[in-house]
Amino acid sequence: MDWGMKNRLSRLICPKTGKAVWLAIDHGYFLGPISKLEEPAKTIRNLIPHTDALMLTRGVLRNCIDAALDIPFILRVSGGNSIVGPALSNEGIQTCMEEAIRLNASAVAISIYIGTEHEHQTLMALGKLVDEGQRYGMPVLAVTAVGKELEKRDARFLSLCCRIAAELGAQAVKTYYCEDFEKVVTGCPVPVVIAGGPKLNTEYDALVLAHNAIKEGAVGVDMGRNIWQSPRALGMIKAIRAIVHENATLKDAKKLLSS
Ligand code: R5P
Repeated sequence: MDWGMKNRLSRLICPKTGKAVWLAIDHGYFLGPISKLEEPAKTIRNLIPHTDALMLTRGVLRNCIDAALDIPFILRVSGGNSIVGPALSNEGIQTCMEEAIRLNASAVAISIYIGTEHEHQTLMALGKLVDEGQRYGMPVLAVTAVGKELEKRDARFLSLCCRIAAELGAQAVKTYYCEDFEKVVTGCPVPVVIAGGPKLNTEYDALVLAHNAIKEGAVGVDMGRNIWQSPRALGMIKAIRAIVHENATLKDAKKLLSS
């Protein structure tokens, strides 16, 4: 791996612990201003010091994030769809590599939609992005199984998605936690991070999710709603951070939730 690519990855995955806590705030690119993300700057202000990197679009980056802030970010570069459109899977690359470099991104992210009518176009887009990433030293994060694909959240399907993403050259993969998650990790030769998905019934459920994922081999989390839609968002990110970087027990993490 070339120096630039290595350097960018080391800003995202802590070299000391080998783990990562990323805060996803890119939801607006197809969901609009969802609850608690109407004003991203306000939402993340207190969470930043406990976050290794943000995941967001160029629009939110330029308009809501202070350029002097010292935080790496993963730039979502795929889009072109919406929650009210005919097919959520109909995505393409809508932000070019030159823009990612101009903005000083530490990685770019693209969704792939395996098992949908747009499987081929999203996988070809991933290949193209990886080629460009190799040229410029930019890691690519492939995001699997968003939207309706969530219904197929089992180890067989997610292993298929993650392995294909890695085979096509993604440097990291973001997926969902599932039963037998270690099978997903074992079959994927690049780091795997988990999304949280829609808000779970309790904050503790989200801590259990993160705890299990780390125990079963995830490199970290790239979570959004289960952190910033919580009334105790600061406690949530502190607790998740302790689980990811310090192997905290659920009991200790729960204490941080209320701190
Ligand atoms: C979905 O496409 C977005 O990329 C989100 O970043 C992702 O779903 C993670 O956020 P959450 O934990 O809210 O699911």
